[in-house]
Amino acid sequence: MIVADVVVDLQYGDCGKGKVTNYLCEKGNYTHVIRYNGGCNAGHTIYHNGQRIITHHIPCGVLHGVRSIIGPGCVVYPDQLFTEIQELEDAGIPARRFVRVANNAHVITRDHIREDGKDSSIGTTKRGNGPAYRDKYGRTGVRASEVESLREFIVDIYEEIHGANTPVKILFEGAQGFGLDIDWGDYPFVTSSHCTVGSAILNGVPPQSIREVWGVAKMYETYVGAKKFEGSDPIFGEIREAGEEFGATTGRPRQCNWMDWNLLKKAININGVTNLVLNKVDVLEEVGQQKILVDEKVVNFDSMSLMKEFIKTNMKKGVITSFSSNKESI
Ligand code: IMP
Ligand code: MG
Repeated sequence: MIVADVVVDLQYGDCGKGKVTNYLCEKGNYTHVIRYNGGCNAGHTIYHNGQRIITHHIPCGVLHGVRSIIGPGCVVYPDQLFTEIQELEDAGIPARRFVRVANNAHVITRDHIREDGKDSSIGTTKRGNGPAYRDKYGRTGVRASEVESLREFIVDIYEEIHGANTPVKILFEGAQGFGLDIDWGDYPFVTSSHCTVGSAILNGVPPQSIREVWGVAKMYETYVGAKKFEGSDPIFGEIREAGEEFGATTGRPRQCNWMDWNLLKKAININGVTNLVLNKVDVLEEVGQQKILVDEKVVNFDSMSLMKEFIKTNMKKGVITSFSSNKESI
């Protein structure tokens, strides 16, 4: 039997997928956590035993002793992977034991990184992501199974998911977000992979195995990249500071804006979200703001409870909605 839950970002990344993944890992008895898209463009900050560790490739499952696979929808830069494994091991987390790479994941090469380093029009993370996916689809790429140094980590993903005699329970952990999706985002200001629940299915599970889809968003939006995104209100500078909105991968300040209700609804519909987590309520409270963009117009609420009420009342039927603060776990 194969069952799978999916964690998917509904905005532009950085909404707290890691937090939801950690929560689900603690209660979910998963046999696997699988990253289903992206490369080392993603950045995830982990606080463990008083240490601050930033991972790019490695799924959060390693923190919970769950077999954690970089799936076939991903591109992987071996040197970065080894660095992360070492950093986690140094912090007392047995990453080497739990991290695996799908045989048919693709590899980011030094040439990809060099090429991406010249980008200025998209505002990429310069981690070789776009060129690696281009070569994958151009059929000139290199698969992980062909790389000698990765050998000890390679698994046959088909066997892993379909070869077991015991139940397989997967948590799919996405990277980036709906607004950065290659098809649904604001092209060309997007990443080069699929960031929806459809992308999880491409990693080798039957569609019927998907159970819960955990959509993650923030009470306001952030975006990093070359297009102009931030609203003109100087309050966004305060939100950036209060929410510590600086990229985990590149350190770039994230542009801020109000939650776009239309985008959120679209992402919920397309992903078939069953559970919605809205993070960083406390950041808006700290700056005393409660606003949502509806049909491109700013709607102001007199209090945070009224903003929450609007969200709950207008939410798609059946979606279980919860709110979370930056400083607390869910
Ligand atoms: P790339 O994925 O590095 O090619 O970058 C394409 C766009 O996606 C740029 O606007 C990046 O800032 C953005 N991006 C890529 N990965 C992330 C992420 O993990 N969080 C937020 N933005 C990201
Ligand atoms: Mg991030």
